[in-house]
Amino acid sequence: MVNTGVMLCGVRLDNPIIAASGCFGYGEEFSRLYDLDVLGSFSFKGTTVAPRDGNPAPRIADAPDGMINSVGLQNPGSQAVRDELLPKMAGYFHKPVMANICGSSVGDYAALAEIFGVQEQVGWLEVNISCPNVKCGGMSFGADPAAAAAVTKACREKTDKPIIMKLTPNAGSVTDVAKACEAAGADALSLINTVQAMRIDLRRRAPVLANVKGGLSGPAVLPIALRCVWDVYESVKIPLVGMGGVSTPADVIEMMLAGATAVEVGAANLVDPFACPKIIDGLPAKMEELGINSLSDIVGAAHG
Ligand SMILES: Cc1cc2nc3c(=O)[nH]c(=O)nc-3n(C[C@H](O)[C@H](O)[C@H](O)COP(=O)(O)O)c2cc1C
Repeated sequence: MVNTGVMLCGVRLDNPIIAASGCFGYGEEFSRLYDLDVLGSFSFKGTTVAPRDGNPAPRIADAPDGMINSVGLQNPGSQAVRDELLPKMAGYFHKPVMANICGSSVGDYAALAEIFGVQEQVGWLEVNISCPNVKCGGMSFGADPAAAAAVTKACREKTDKPIIMKLTPNAGSVTDVAKACEAAGADALSLINTVQAMRIDLRRRAPVLANVKGGLSGPAVLPIALRCVWDVYESVKIPLVGMGGVSTPADVIEMMLAGATAVEVGAANLVDPFACPKIIDGLPAKMEELGINSLSDIVGAAHG
């Protein structure tokens, strides 16, 4: 029997698969399709202090082997998530959940860390400093090491829960941002968020997305994500959660060999709502085929 269990910041995952933020809502719709307890965990939709309607439509564009979104962090706000959605979630998910938070200021991030850092159901805070689709905040924090460190420090002061800083591939140097987050007290890093991208409508001679630019995700970004995880693994000592284009058990193993301790699955859930349970079911056979007894043994193994 192979062992798919991994430890992420002192919290055990039965398997390394975490449904990625923004591609899984707060889990409710998926819980009507399958038992969410088969997941390692899931990261809930990026939540801001106040509710947000997101960007105007169209906010999804097709791309070769992927998709571009400019959803813009549509969410019901921290109060509704804490008071209504977390209690509901307790009915259909019985493992620690990852709380994905996003702010427009350092103060917003601190307030969100304070709110979700005391919720029993929350296993980790995933601090999104990498959203390319919001005007202020989001990626502007993740592209600059000093700003990323300031957000990390502000969250660290508000909670003892593990803090996972979510990084953008759109930074000048993702490794500099990673090192700044580690030095400021991050427990782990997750990467990558979407890659800034756009499409143009030939007939209208205008950008497809109302917001002009969005973020590319799906299989097209897997090699970029692997390169980022590889580089960051060589730059920091804290664990990494890898994501970007993962849709098969082989992709999960590749991401772990590059240096990821756990792996998030995003856009694949939008193509096939059963993507996560299918990957989880397929992992043991792929491990046996490759002679892997325990997944935790292969983290970073490609680095030699
Ligand atoms: C429609 C959509 C919405 C997203 N919303 C969020 C979000 O709220 N917070 C966040 O940290 N990442 C968000 N992401 C990024 C994903 O979590 C993930 O980092 C990215 O899509 C790369 O993984 P994938 O190729 O498996 O989708 C979103 C992605 C998509 C496609």
